[in-house]
Amino acid sequence: MNIAVTGGAGFIGSNFVYYELKNHPEDRIICFDALTYAGNLETLNSAMENPSFKFIRGDITNRKQVETFFENEKPDILVNFAAESHVDRSIENPQLFLETNVLGTSVLLDACRKYSVDRYHQVSTDEVYGDLPLDRPDMMFTEESNLHTSSPYSASKASADLLVQAYERTYKVPATISRCSNNYGPFHFPEKLIPLMIINALNNRKLPVYGDGLNVRDWLYVEDHCKAIDLIIREGHVGEVYNIGGHNEHSNMDVVKMILHELNKPESLIEHVADRKGHDRRYAIDPTKIQTELGWQPETKFEDGIKKTIKWYLDNRSWWEHIMNGEYQHYYERMYGSRKKYVYSSL
Ligand code: NAD
Ligand code: DAU
Repeated sequence: MNIAVTGGAGFIGSNFVYYELKNHPEDRIICFDALTYAGNLETLNSAMENPSFKFIRGDITNRKQVETFFENEKPDILVNFAAESHVDRSIENPQLFLETNVLGTSVLLDACRKYSVDRYHQVSTDEVYGDLPLDRPDMMFTEESNLHTSSPYSASKASADLLVQAYERTYKVPATISRCSNNYGPFHFPEKLIPLMIINALNNRKLPVYGDGLNVRDWLYVEDHCKAIDLIIREGHVGEVYNIGGHNEHSNMDVVKMILHELNKPESLIEHVADRKGHDRRYAIDPTKIQTELGWQPETKFEDGIKKTIKWYLDNRSWWEHIMNGEYQHYYERMYGSRKKYVYSSL
């Protein structure tokens, strides 16, 4: 089978490329990625040595490039990871998120329709459901929860999901959607909470926690996400949405303290800074459907996964140092340089 992986030079897409090469050596994996600031060819260095893997630079919003890709590579399945993925950047520049996440998805769907693929899989997010209150631990997102978005990022992802469902119903494009909770693990771009905190702690820099730091995220080790997508594309049912999550809810403060503890760094490095606009309070996924229908189970507990992840950042300094030394410095200065600092005396 030919499996096209759009956005395969990013965090989850690259982990998926490695998962497929390891677990399905009989398949050909073709990565199609525009190499934006978040895409990194170094991440795919080992894959490049595998004859079953091919990389093609291209933009999912460019219809001509996408059609040429389909004509040359003839994918049987397309898994779409390509997106603008960072909430803070979406608050700075919503337009780009609409172009990539909504228009890009529509271009891919048109191509899947024109070239009759066997499956289009949309990698979506739990953020399309909005957030949950902290004082109702019994509440979780199911596939039936309403779409109720908070940020331009989540609104663009929800729009893309609606388009996928419309193409499935109207044009019979054989599509599935997965909505996963927060991922962490190797190759996670340094702008996101966990890698940012690991790297700042290693450099004895302040750890900028937004607001009171009590916001809760439901963390899943990236390989468990890849395993779930692999199951969905091979055994999942067309037209279905599958939630993915492993019941690993932690507040941001807890995560940051765990990282400091693991690296033997003082909690005085924590600095409360101005909150994210529209900041979602809590996410929690109910994964019952994928567990009962497809037999998926997560393997990595958060306590083990965070240790593995910290070790990966210690062992792969050159990967993140190359990023830190480039354009990313300007982003960091823009996002954190003049951000207000707060003292939360009750914490
Ligand atoms: P990422 O930002 O690390 O990677 C995105 C990749 O897409 C990059 O390689 C980038 O170059 C590529 N890309 C961006 N615009 C493109 C375009 N126009 N054409 C082709 N390629 C383009 O993102 P990620 O964290 O790996 O997330 C991947 C997908 O999973 C996204 O769709 C995201 O919404 C979803 N998701 C992420 C998480 C998470 O915790 N990171 C959780 C659930 C769902
Ligand atoms: O839930 C899935 C989503 O998880 C994905 O769809 C997104 O692509 C992915 O980026 C992630 O979104 P979050 O906004 O939850 O992740 P982020 O790492 O940006 O932030 C996690 C939490 O940490 C959030 O409550 C904001 C907070 N935070 C983040 C940063 C970068 C801080 O307190 N300080 C920071 O510097």
